[in-house]
Amino acid sequence: MISYPINKGMNGNANIPGDKSISHRSIIIPSISNGICEINNILKSEDVLHTINAFKDMGVKIKEKNRKIVVHGNGLNSLKKPSKEIYLGNSGTSARLLTGLLSSQKFDTVLAGDESLSKRPMKRISDPLSKMNARIQTTNGNLPIKINGSELVPALFDLKIPSAQIKSGILLACLNIRGETNIIENRITRDHTETMLESFGANIEIEKKDNKKLIKIFGEKELFSKNIDVPNDLSSSAFFIVSALINENSKLSLKNINNNPTRNGLLLALKKMGANIELKNQRVNNNENVCDIEVSTSTLNGCELGPEFADLMIDEYPILAIAASFANSPSIFKGLKELKVKESNRLKLILINLQSCGVNCKTENDDLYIYPSKKYDLITNKIQTDYDHRIAMAFAVMGTKIGPLNIKDSDSIKTSFPNFINEINNIGGNIIEE
Ligand code: S3P
Repeated sequence: MISYPINKGMNGNANIPGDKSISHRSIIIPSISNGICEINNILKSEDVLHTINAFKDMGVKIKEKNRKIVVHGNGLNSLKKPSKEIYLGNSGTSARLLTGLLSSQKFDTVLAGDESLSKRPMKRISDPLSKMNARIQTTNGNLPIKINGSELVPALFDLKIPSAQIKSGILLACLNIRGETNIIENRITRDHTETMLESFGANIEIEKKDNKKLIKIFGEKELFSKNIDVPNDLSSSAFFIVSALINENSKLSLKNINNNPTRNGLLLALKKMGANIELKNQRVNNNENVCDIEVSTSTLNGCELGPEFADLMIDEYPILAIAASFANSPSIFKGLKELKVKESNRLKLILINLQSCGVNCKTENDDLYIYPSKKYDLITNKIQTDYDHRIAMAFAVMGTKIGPLNIKDSDSIKTSFPNFINEINNIGGNIIEE
């Protein structure tokens, strides 16, 4: 796609789709609960469709009714062995969460993914699960992986990698294990899995101490379904928020956005940079914080963010780096190691693409330094994305200021935000699909 510069600002209401993390969990947890769950506003993107198809392949009745997805769950041991390998496309969340869940089922499965997902680390989930006697064979640490479903034993985990996918995979495995597993989470990660499990009646206790969390989960307790109203995705709204901040004469309104305190670092960071962002109508729905957001053109200051911010906004650094490129002073974002193992090596792609756009920036020890200037001279207009949706959308926003930018392999956007181009063009963007 090609993103051209705009001249009238970003204005109006943008329709942000349902939250991706919550959408995956809205399929996974009701599929192993008892009863019917009607899901409103689920994200219909490729990643979530892969999760839906995986559970259909395992015999779960999942239908669409009046624009809602309805999941008919039959309990912890109701899944059936799929007739073939489960293909998960580009979806890391599906891969890690299903590895956990399926390791304590009574059948064997094989999980596979596309070229990009097949390069991402899977030992980070199979190693902790093997502590509970899980039998999982990776392909040199990657997908495809073979899971021999078996009886697992409880364990104590002291999680060092800050990853909600690892924590969630372990929690889902534990649902089918007799006894108590304890998980110490040393750094905060998004808590959607614990929140939904609690509300579905899981035997789970959570204690918080400073920045640490102790989760105790007792298995073999059947879950009971509830209807789910998926809020809109803060990570997807981030592209719109920054497009309004950096373009003159902009004023945007975004409704029903998930503002979960375990992943709202972007809003905190932008506020620190002086952004005009107002959170309105703050409320709680389905145990998740939700609000409406109003954002307008702002003079941004650079800022220094420590590694604790990375835990609260790991997916938003590509677009934050774009915002920082239009601030009036330098920024340093520290502790971005986890960015290297996302849908692409995001730290590398942020760096080389900003440099292509003429931005003076560097990385040192997984810290990113951005030295903004008033005017940029493009070195090349080709943006390399390695099929990473968030890199593609972030540089589409960059294009609104300094384009035309030719964003390669932008099809990846369908994994999380199929209607992105229409939505951004509706509020003033000028993006053309090639
Ligand atoms: C996610 C967790 C995060 C995040 C990903 C979604 C989830 O990954 O980057 O987009 O839904 O649990 P990690 O667990 O690898 O940090």
